[in-house]
Amino acid sequence: MPTATRQRADRDPLWFKDAVIYEAHVRSFYDRNDDGIGDLRGVVEKLDYLQDLGVNCLWLLPFFPSPLRDDGYDIADYRGVHPDYGTVDDFRQLIEAAHGRGIRVVIELVVNHTSDQHPWFQRARRAPRGSPERDFYVWSDTDERYREARIIFTDTERSNWTWDPEAKQYYWHRFFSHQPDLNFENPEVIREVLDALRFWAEMGVDGFRLDAVPYLVEKDGTSCENLPATHEVIRAIRAFVDRNYPGRMLLAEANQWPTDVRPYFGDGDECHMAFHFPLMPRIFMALRLEDAEPIVDIMRRTPPIPESCQWALFLRNHDELTLEMVSADERDYMYLAYGQDPRAKLNVGIRRRLAPLVDNSRRRIELLHSLLFSFPGTPVVYYGDEIGMGDDVSRADRNGVRTPMQWSADRNAGFSRADPGRLYGLPVSDPVYGYQAVNVEAELKDPSSLLHWMRNTISLRKLFKAFGRGSMEFLASPNRKVLAYVRRHEEDVILCVANVSRFAQPVELDLSAFEGWVPVEMLGYTDFPAVGKPPYFLTLGPYGTYWFELRKPA
Ligand code: GLC
Ligand code: CA
Repeated sequence: MPTATRQRADRDPLWFKDAVIYEAHVRSFYDRNDDGIGDLRGVVEKLDYLQDLGVNCLWLLPFFPSPLRDDGYDIADYRGVHPDYGTVDDFRQLIEAAHGRGIRVVIELVVNHTSDQHPWFQRARRAPRGSPERDFYVWSDTDERYREARIIFTDTERSNWTWDPEAKQYYWHRFFSHQPDLNFENPEVIREVLDALRFWAEMGVDGFRLDAVPYLVEKDGTSCENLPATHEVIRAIRAFVDRNYPGRMLLAEANQWPTDVRPYFGDGDECHMAFHFPLMPRIFMALRLEDAEPIVDIMRRTPPIPESCQWALFLRNHDELTLEMVSADERDYMYLAYGQDPRAKLNVGIRRRLAPLVDNSRRRIELLHSLLFSFPGTPVVYYGDEIGMGDDVSRADRNGVRTPMQWSADRNAGFSRADPGRLYGLPVSDPVYGYQAVNVEAELKDPSSLLHWMRNTISLRKLFKAFGRGSMEFLASPNRKVLAYVRRHEEDVILCVANVSRFAQPVELDLSAFEGWVPVEMLGYTDFPAVGKPPYFLTLGPYGTYWFELRKPA
């Protein structure tokens, strides 16, 4: 891209609509100083790899000072870097190096809760009742309040209240008991949150993922989720961003039904983006049922969002594949289809990576990514999924999906030169997914590898704004195993067709609106027969997909 064009694009406040986001964990990505733990300088070293893959936005999991009892989501200081990962200066260099390569950086703003080691909490438990210091958190004399609020970490927690002997009161926590929830009714708390945001925004951070955002405010007699007062807090954060850092993006982690996620966009005055949690499990359902209906159904139930907003789409992430936003029947089905190994279950979900979820089927991995990259929204790729990494369900909590990135077949998967015993966790080494078999170096050398396929697909997607910005319209498909949809943006019209079944399928599509147009298959740039009067007939191989550019007759 010529510099002038790039600069213009850089200033586009809606840049996130054209982004391809890569989610990485500093700890797991690359160890630069050989101590067995990934670090910020390691991420810098691998930016070329990311640029080459074609991603243009990097989302980093928490790297702040923390006792690491929730892998860093238990923050002990909002304005620092965990010494394992480097220094604030390293982070500054990372931002500069990423921006130099046209890669934006999104970090975590985990403000629902802190670690119990955070000085605010230590101060709170000692401070007198009713003092502003005590009121940084949510306290009660009984554990009976807010009983309607569900428990999220069902495998570890029995209550959302924990007794603090020092404060002689119970404190509120939606997640682990070592993660007390901040009290957003205290204006001092909001001020601190904005200060933390400012600290990183000043360094050039392009976006913030608002972790666990539905739970900010509590209220008796409610589920304590998605409350109007929580939305007020978000509007305050957004107003602060717009005033001081226009063009920076807020991404909501609101694991809710589509109608409850919708308010997180507000009237374009809350978050710019929100994860589409309900879509994800239904893509997996459709695949196993060999029926596209669950996908069509959830997209129909997805309300429209403001022009300035965007869905974040994902297949897998650093957590379990959550099944909170499906019906009880759907949940049973998902466990049956994808959670056969009892160790794979965690809380209300399945802790597996993408490749093992689909039995390491290359066709299914490609199909899923073809949907991810062509549905309305911005795709998020979880580190390692671009090479088909596996997991290890024998490890505690979600550690089995956070193993070291597999760079090569060398010692420690090329992730670190430390003695294996010093690694924060061992790389996967089973015969199918182990680093000896699955790694970046080997896939770079193999032109037909998944990694090359991902790179091609990402670059193709980036050529057409219709994917990130276009409208979407499903075409009636008489064959329920075939999904067909049209993406349109300005002059661009793209037809996508996907077969969710393991057998070849025919389909007849009503393309009468495009009579005389020529579908050009986008990967090979191959002209297909022009659209005529009768329904357009296509055949698709097992799990086959097409992306066609529809060309108007000259
Ligand atoms: C979010 C994170 C998860 C973390 C939880 C509590 O859901 O994605 O990893 O454990 O918040 O902080
Ligand atoms: Ca290190």
